[in-house]
Amino acid sequence: MKRLIVALAAAGLIAAVGSAQAQAPIVLKFSHVVAPNTPKGKGAEKFKELGEKYTNGKVKIEVYANSSLYKDKEELEALQLGAVQMLAPSNSKFGPIGIKEFEVFDLPYILPNKPALRKVTDGPIGDRLLKLLDAKGMTGLAYWDNGFKQMSANKPLNVPDDYKGLKFRIQSSKVLEAQFRTLGAIPQVMAFSEVYQALQTGVVDGQENTPSNMYTQKMHEVQKFTTLTNHGYIGYVVVVNKKFWDDLPADIRGQLTKAMKEATAYSNGISETENAEALDDMKKSGKTQIIIPTAAQTAAMRKAMEPVYADVSARVGKKLIDEVLKETQGVTH
Ligand code: LMR
Repeated sequence: MKRLIVALAAAGLIAAVGSAQAQAPIVLKFSHVVAPNTPKGKGAEKFKELGEKYTNGKVKIEVYANSSLYKDKEELEALQLGAVQMLAPSNSKFGPIGIKEFEVFDLPYILPNKPALRKVTDGPIGDRLLKLLDAKGMTGLAYWDNGFKQMSANKPLNVPDDYKGLKFRIQSSKVLEAQFRTLGAIPQVMAFSEVYQALQTGVVDGQENTPSNMYTQKMHEVQKFTTLTNHGYIGYVVVVNKKFWDDLPADIRGQLTKAMKEATAYSNGISETENAEALDDMKKSGKTQIIIPTAAQTAAMRKAMEPVYADVSARVGKKLIDEVLKETQGVTH
């Protein structure tokens, strides 16, 4: 009898453990390097809210902002290893894992405006680029916007000559490296989380980023001048570990896909205002002087940076560059 009770209790326990296991939520870690109050930070929170709601809590989405889990270079490696499930790195950060094509978005002045960008990301080129991620163990789910980049330093940056000899922090993109070399500047790859301190201590003299990134990292407090060059763009690819994604029950994957679609619309919908507000806050702070270049200065910058296209065409692909140019040039709205 005693043996029977022990056996029944053990079976009950096993059943209880089994059902607890069945109910344990699937954990999805979403790591990123920017502040929560940025377009990407807010998009990630929106995805968490909607993803948990649509899956009825079957998926627990943990968002790690501000490089609290991984820095730039580590995060893509961690995703490939499955240590984190979701990221939204900028286009400029895929080169080190062997996908150079996303660097096409880094070419100076290749994107005249947001609609031009949208034509590329939402069309066949965007689809094709996302498919390149499969071979690297990740699935591309969406393109998220940040905004146009501005240049900053402790001296006014008006014309190409002003860049000569200055050290600029760059993301890990060979196109960005070529861009600063063409200007006679010295590019230095550095993780996003280290930029503020590097500017403050003079390890680098300047940087390029969007107002929302500059403001939330307080870069404007350690850069006396910010020039509104709008010479390039920072946008993201939301990527998920492919095995994790493929192994999800189909209904859950469907609900998360729906959540991602809505979070994408939300994040892309707020990115322009977020950047405009951040620029306004930078102005109000009085800590950085905002310079608006003249048409002649912008023309000089464009001309000086033109050789970058030829410099990187073998790396990024001439055909791809031409395709993107065809889609983007002349788009006005
Ligand atoms: C940067 O490193 O400057 C950006 O890619 C950061 C980000 O994710 O917006």
